[in-house]
Amino acid sequence: DGLHSLMVATGKVYFGTATDTNNFDDEAYQTIATNRKEFGMFTPENSQKWMSTEPFQGNFSFAQADRVAQRARSNRQLLRCHTLTWHSQLPPFVQNTTWNPAALTALLTAHLTTVMRHYAGRCYAWDVVNEALAENGTMRSDPPSVFLSILGPSYIPLSFTIAAAADPSAKLYYNDFNLETIPAKADGAVGIVKQIRAAGARIDGVGFQAHMNVGQTPKREELAGTLRRFAALGVDVAITELDIAHGKVPVAPGGVEEVQQARDYAAVVGACLDVEACVGITVWQFTDRYSWVPSTFPGKGQACMFAEDYRPKLAYDAVVGLL
Ligand code: XIL
Repeated sequence: DGLHSLMVATGKVYFGTATDTNNFDDEAYQTIATNRKEFGMFTPENSQKWMSTEPFQGNFSFAQADRVAQRARSNRQLLRCHTLTWHSQLPPFVQNTTWNPAALTALLTAHLTTVMRHYAGRCYAWDVVNEALAENGTMRSDPPSVFLSILGPSYIPLSFTIAAAADPSAKLYYNDFNLETIPAKADGAVGIVKQIRAAGARIDGVGFQAHMNVGQTPKREELAGTLRRFAALGVDVAITELDIAHGKVPVAPGGVEEVQQARDYAAVVGACLDVEACVGITVWQFTDRYSWVPSTFPGKGQACMFAEDYRPKLAYDAVVGLL
């Protein structure tokens, strides 16, 4: 048995991983990624982002993401689609601050509708709006979001309204990081759920990215409590981008740092198990070989459940032991 099959046996929907076409030629990687006992869901790590799907206005390109979707389908794995309205990884034409509100609304409508219709019926869920919040729970302004500056906070319910019309079968998520650790930011996300509903739009879930640090991961009960705040609103929750980075690498295989990392992984997975509304866990790559952490946060690393050479770490054993 593996992560996904054990997870499903507990009543959850999936255990999944971020992956993308840059991983396709690595056979050792694919042996694990396409083993449906381990991973029952793929999230395209980059290929569904705006810069990939609409690099020039009106010019859509789905070739990369289609390859990921096709692979998931032929392995009978779910697809979690990621992401639509986000301030980051935008093509330059979108970032252009000379948009007027009507033109930007039309652009957003065309983008979300075209991308979502292309994948309609194939996405278990969509991260409709990503990372709209600042760390203090107010709307993010650093770096500024073109959507917030030109449309104001109503771009959030607007995105969910467009999304619901484009693919009625996908669960619609708000997705963000540090909701796990910063109560004020979680308050902000609660506010977003309410704001979307007050506008008469549909939201089905809140995604907790869970980019964590070894030794600074919340305890299982604590995180379960935060997840329950959202469950109480009647939305699903999911851990959408889990990785737990060491502050200073390299760390020794099987050493004390890896023991702590294993405890931290178990706390996050355990919290999801404790909350009925938590549908599943996605790791943001399963191997250190392809983790985004070292290049984004210099000095940090070894954040995944498998080492660079595909050795399952203590975190893997701890999670399997828990399931
Ligand atoms: C990251 C990818 O992993 C990197 O390959 C890319 O260069 C930048 O984006 N939050 C998200 C993800 O929602 O889309 C980000 O993915 C990580 C942070």
